Amino acid sequence: MATSALLNPFRPGAGHEPPYLAGRQSETNEFMRLIGQDVVLENMVLTGLRGMGKTVLLERLKELAIEAGWGWVGSNFSEAVSVSEERLALRIVDDLALVTSNIVVGKREFTGMGFRAETDQVTETLNSNTMRALWKQIPGLASDKLKAILELVWRYWRDERPGGLIFAYDEAQMLSDHAAKDEYPLSLLLDVFESIQKRNIPFMLVLVGLPTLFPKLVEARTFAERMFRVVFLDRLNDEDSRDAILKPIEDSPHVMRFRDSFVQRIIEESSGYPYFIQFICKEIFDMLLQQFRAAQTDTGDLLLIRHPRTGEELKEGDKGTILAPISEITNKLDIDFYAGRWARATDRQRELLIVIAHLDGCESQFTVQEVVEKSKELEKSSKLLKKAFSPSHVSQMLSTLCKTGLIYKNRHGKYSFAVPLLGRFIRRQVS
Ligand SMILES: Nc1ncnc2c1ncn2[C@@H]1O[C@H](COP(=O)(O)OP(=O)(O)O)[C@@H](O)[C@H]1O
Ligand SMILES: [Mg+2]
Repeated sequence: MATSALLNPFRPGAGHEPPYLAGRQSETNEFMRLIGQDVVLENMVLTGLRGMGKTVLLERLKELAIEAGWGWVGSNFSEAVSVSEERLALRIVDDLALVTSNIVVGKREFTGMGFRAETDQVTETLNSNTMRALWKQIPGLASDKLKAILELVWRYWRDERPGGLIFAYDEAQMLSDHAAKDEYPLSLLLDVFESIQKRNIPFMLVLVGLPTLFPKLVEARTFAERMFRVVFLDRLNDEDSRDAILKPIEDSPHVMRFRDSFVQRIIEESSGYPYFIQFICKEIFDMLLQQFRAAQTDTGDLLLIRHPRTGEELKEGDKGTILAPISEITNKLDIDFYAGRWARATDRQRELLIVIAHLDGCESQFTVQEVVEKSKELEKSSKLLKKAFSPSHVSQMLSTLCKTGLIYKNRHGKYSFAVPLLGRFIRRQVS
């Protein structure tokens, strides 16, 4: 017997393909414009908070690019790749070989040895062995070797496909230069592609990562400012959120339907964050499947849902009423998504975060000054804070929190939460 869990269409989880990819049309259009460039003048940075849907959108872009005749090279960047210039360059070469390994570059002939009279032919392709051999032969620095290999690949690739090649890397915020070790992998990446693109070779970079990514690129090479078009993924608007909730159910064999008011409730609770939508819907669906396995098959009736505490909007006829425990689901989401990060903060850091969570605009951005002012206010007016923070203390603590990944500093020197709806979570904790 199939378990009900198997029938749940929703997919919360990093990189898990959603049952329906909602919205993202303008971002997709922007990508299509970029691959329409004759000469690559602009590359793409796809950025946004965790859980916003960067990885799954990248998968969609990959399909579109391949349909349009481009090749797709890429994977994730990790700390290990970022260690040295050579590691990074070789990683790219290996990724490239996966795409070019069927391209024939020549036939080596040699007369059979020993008893065999016939001539054997060995087909040489641009596979990883060939590439690694080239890497050894080409003189110079890692960047010279990589450039030479890319140029060579282009000479063959242009006969293969109408489009160029896209080099797409997820988690690209992991990439860094390390001045102390005299290793500059991030700069190498930018230099090599800038140089290749100057030679009109249509190899395009698509770098995907957290909001720290673009400032990092610009810090490494100022020309990165002009080299990339930054596409910032934001939360889904109400209409797209509605699609993300409803389409998977419509497309599934289940006859149950969510009431409008309930859909609205999910949209509010998730604030349009794709991960939260998947999470909440999955929980609700699991619950429904467990409670109503028998009822789901035949009737086609609406399942009427209300909030267990408020009891609002219960009836539309008497059948099929279900209580959906939204508050319990939110608690579970808190544990799943935030609790670990919150637990790692020190007491004083938590106090600072509580102050920030009480700023009106905390979910968009805030300044040191605003935090200082708010801390004075809270010191006077509430029990939440015994002692206000000084400006230097706030700056210093914010930069520590940036390193732990709870906060990031944007290009205009303002700060933001690096985790969606962190302010709301914190306010729930203190209330
Ligand atoms: N446009 C979307 N519509 C519906 N669900 C989405 C959408 N984008 C992302 N999701 C879901 O949100 C979750 C997080 O997506 P992911 O791509 O891993 O985010 P990121 O890479 O930005 O951290 C996944 O469960 C995914 O299925
Ligand atoms: Mg991701």
